[in-house]
Amino acid sequence: MLKKKKKIVAPRVANKAGYQVQDIWFHRAKAAGYRARSAFKLLQIQEKTSLIRPDTLALDLGCAPGSWLQVLSQIVGEHGRILGVDLQSVDKFSQKHITTLVGDMMAADTHEKIRDYLSEIQTEKMTNDE
Ligand SMILES: C[S@@+](CC[C@H](N)C(=O)[O-])C[C@H]1O[C@@H](n2cnc3c(N)ncnc32)[C@H](O)[C@@H]1O
Repeated sequence: MLKKKKKIVAPRVANKAGYQVQDIWFHRAKAAGYRARSAFKLLQIQEKTSLIRPDTLALDLGCAPGSWLQVLSQIVGEHGRILGVDLQSVDKFSQKHITTLVGDMMAADTHEKIRDYLSEIQTEKMTNDE
């Protein structure tokens, strides 16, 4: 008689954002200090496309818990700027060039906050003789 193959499933552990899959990427993310395993998705995209450039401004819509913000921070560097937006609040970062705001990316008041941030950046650039 043929034995039924047992399906291997990575363990899922509840966290405050729902369920988290604890596979190899989870453990790699933890070891590398990333807040989520999705960091590696952006690292792979970057490796293939060089989409993000140093010293630029990056806007991450739907950024919690912030692993993409961590990767963006590494790529754009301290002269770049990063704004993350999410419905949920994001734990603070030590890096000064990462800003987060709580808001619905589809809402007009969030767009207003993003515009305010962008105009602050422009002012900063204009007054900074780098
Ligand atoms: C898969 S998570 C993003 C993970 C993130 N890229 C990272 O690596 O840490 C998707 C996020 O989108 C956010 N989100 C979904 N709809 C949103 C909306 N309308 N406005 C803002 N954030 C939203 C959710 O709250 C959730 O935190």
